[in-house]
Amino acid sequence: MPNAQILLIDDDVTELERCREALAALPRISVVAENSSSAAVKLLGLESLDLVVTDLRMPLVDGLDILRVAQSLDPEMPVVIMTGYPSVDTAVTALKDGAADYLSKPVNLDELVTVASRLLETRRLRSEHRLLQRHLNQDYAFGEMVGVSPGMAEVFETVRRLASSDVDVLVIGETGTGKELVARSLHRQSANRSGRFVPVDCAAIPESLMESELFGHERGAFTGADQKSIGLMEFANQGTFFLDEVNALPMSMQAKLLRSLEERRFRRVGANLEIDVDIRVIAASNEDLAALVEEGRFREDLYYRLNVGMVEIPPLRDRDSDIPLLVEHFLEHHQGASDRRVTGVSPDALNVLKAYSWPGNVRQLQNVVRRALVMTSGPVLTLEDLPDEVVSERGDRATTGPGSFFDVRAEHQDRFEKEYLVGMLRECLGDVSEAARRAEIPRGTFYRLMKKHDLNADVFRLS
Ligand SMILES: Nc1ncnc2c1ncn2[C@@H]1O[C@H](COP(=O)(O)OP(=O)(O)OP(=O)(O)O)[C@@H](O)[C@H]1O
Ligand SMILES: [Mg+2]
Repeated sequence: MPNAQILLIDDDVTELERCREALAALPRISVVAENSSSAAVKLLGLESLDLVVTDLRMPLVDGLDILRVAQSLDPEMPVVIMTGYPSVDTAVTALKDGAADYLSKPVNLDELVTVASRLLETRRLRSEHRLLQRHLNQDYAFGEMVGVSPGMAEVFETVRRLASSDVDVLVIGETGTGKELVARSLHRQSANRSGRFVPVDCAAIPESLMESELFGHERGAFTGADQKSIGLMEFANQGTFFLDEVNALPMSMQAKLLRSLEERRFRRVGANLEIDVDIRVIAASNEDLAALVEEGRFREDLYYRLNVGMVEIPPLRDRDSDIPLLVEHFLEHHQGASDRRVTGVSPDALNVLKAYSWPGNVRQLQNVVRRALVMTSGPVLTLEDLPDEVVSERGDRATTGPGSFFDVRAEHQDRFEKEYLVGMLRECLGDVSEAARRAEIPRGTFYRLMKKHDLNADVFRLS
């Protein structure tokens, strides 16, 4: 099935047919050939096109008119002009008016095919690039997964086993447990590893745009669809399609997705033809999908479709033996291995880290380490460098409830002050006068607050 469409225009029917045949031999291309330029102008508005190749001299509507109309409809539409009267002037005019290239007639077919392939490729890359900008710009999980707990050993073993097969996989785990890391690691070890890893955050796409984001759309498929756009599933072809937060999929999409996953085939919105894809599907959920099925909030058939293989990542509170290794891993990552200023963690701080309940799991631990690195002035992280909520979490807290209004407010204010100062000092690279000016408080007050929170401006200066 074609993935791109070319409009070819020439009033000379023999020449038209010669060029059509050459272009139609390109893989997954369909060519609409038109010998009347006035009819062709109408097609510009109707068809979903990727390239226009047009003769220059034609009665009534000429090649430059075609160029103008094409570009007014789609400023990025590549238009190639062919002419039997090559002169430097017409070439220059055409290129200045925005033609993508210029061929003299009789057209050398090899040259035509080369130029067309190049322009189609550029257009495809540009549309993929737009897609990338929208979806792949998130902060990537980095590096390898570490862990020594029995729970993680099981995760590693399952990942290894599933990676070598090509079954779809469901990854379940609380927020921040490393679901995306598992998905990327499955991808890296799978047969599709040379293809792309395309994450789709199902919770972040509005329901009204979901179908077109996943499957793409043709030009004019709906109001605002002024360009053809490929969808994420097509983009993931030959690679891995990662449906993140799949539990957030609205019911209406679940049905459409199920069908496309079963057949590995879908239709762009507004298109007639179906497109086949070869993708590995990995889905992640931070809720128990089986329970959602029970409650009627998730389709049972889709659940079974996704859950051919399953990886369940235990919450961090159930594997505190991983904590020393994770802390070490994050210390190294956030400082670089060689020029390490902080080399470790004091024993009492490590105990507190191991005892904490980690509602945000590994991501929260990572943030705590990162923050502590900024706060600390010594070579090891100590209790003072850890956030209050981590240090002061005690079993009895939950039973007594929050303290008095004033105590809780003071606690919040302290935390706010410290974080604010650190943020401002970091922003101003340790220049206290500048930080005080921006904070709009007297410099003396700023110093007093720094003293209260035991902050040292040197730490924020660039060495
Ligand atoms: N076992 C691990 N080893 C090293 N880093 C880890 C590990 N688990 C998680 N991380 C790190 O913790 C952060 C969160 O991981 P990830 O984004 O994969 O979690 P998630 O389960 O997808 O979270 P969410 O449900 O919030 O999307 C990332 O920066 C990741 O690199
Ligand atoms: Mg995630």
